[in-house]
Amino acid sequence: MLKDSFGRVHDYLRISLTDVCNFRCRYCMPDEDTQFMPAAQLMQADEIELIAARFVQMGVKKIRLTGGEPLVRKDAEDIIMRLSKYPVELTITTNGTAIKTAIPVLKKAGIQSINISLDSLNKENFFLITKRPLFEKVWNNIQLLLDEGFHVKVNTVVMRGVNDHEILDFIEWTKTQPVHVRFIEFMPFDGNRWTDKKVFSYREILAVAESGYSFLRMQDAINETAKKYKPYNHQGSFAIISTMSAPFCSNCNRMRLTADGKMKNCLFSKGEVDILSALRNGEDIVPLIKQCVTDKAAALGGQFEGDYEKIDAAKIKNRSMINIGG
Ligand code: 5AD
Ligand code: SF4
Repeated sequence: MLKDSFGRVHDYLRISLTDVCNFRCRYCMPDEDTQFMPAAQLMQADEIELIAARFVQMGVKKIRLTGGEPLVRKDAEDIIMRLSKYPVELTITTNGTAIKTAIPVLKKAGIQSINISLDSLNKENFFLITKRPLFEKVWNNIQLLLDEGFHVKVNTVVMRGVNDHEILDFIEWTKTQPVHVRFIEFMPFDGNRWTDKKVFSYREILAVAESGYSFLRMQDAINETAKKYKPYNHQGSFAIISTMSAPFCSNCNRMRLTADGKMKNCLFSKGEVDILSALRNGEDIVPLIKQCVTDKAAALGGQFEGDYEKIDAAKIKNRSMINIGG
């Protein structure tokens, strides 16, 4: 069992398969000509399988594949099948553009729940955010996943003046379709031009939602990062992820592996542990993983605590989100 110094059991691993993405979301990527990692630096399929095996032996029960965009990696399906043999809940976060051809493999691997990033329901606004004209493709693929019976969660990063006016449209969508929209507060990462003014907070999102709908607060699962709400008579639901205004670190069970095989004990951790190099050198990676968990800070990587309005984004030491893995 992987327990940190605060007694938190860590049983959830997020593995980034690549830092490449076919979108250019402004809140995620530093700029258009981002340099991606050289292929040799990435964890290979067999290395991912080996590293994941160690984590599973140490009690990991859930693995999420992320990126960049995990499905742009040519051997993504091979990796999914390799991991599907482990006794874990396997899930994926994707931008939805390449999901259609992946559906048979996702099913074969027993994946039932999929997170899709979608920040706008409006074609023009979608383009402004992602810089790619692929709204229809993502939209159609979400419909396809729903038709195929997948549990679909939609991740929506809410930014003031960018898409906060679409909150009610997203909730309206949950009336007729069993989609679960998760509004995420905008977080600071290297190069994403974060300012506290652009954060549309949990309270503000909730106030907008209340202006249009009546809903019940749903029971939170342990380790839940989202506060969930169920509008009356809607097939779907919505949730708010309040990382900035009301962090939920006290029950955190997450660990991350970047595409180049570095372990991070928190999305905001300054430090990383080079698991891949150790594996390639024939070292035992178990003590490294344990130490990384032991070193975990109480909250937000120890980088900022208290009022998010006082954060100086320039002082935060981290990779960009695309480089960490969402
Ligand atoms: N703030 C909040 N969420 C972010 N994501 C990416 N960058 C940010 C950010 N700056 C989320 C996206 C995507 C997931 C991989 O990470 O919503 O769904
Ligand atoms: Fe790609 Fe997701 Fe980052 Fe957008 S948020 S650039 S879809 S990885």
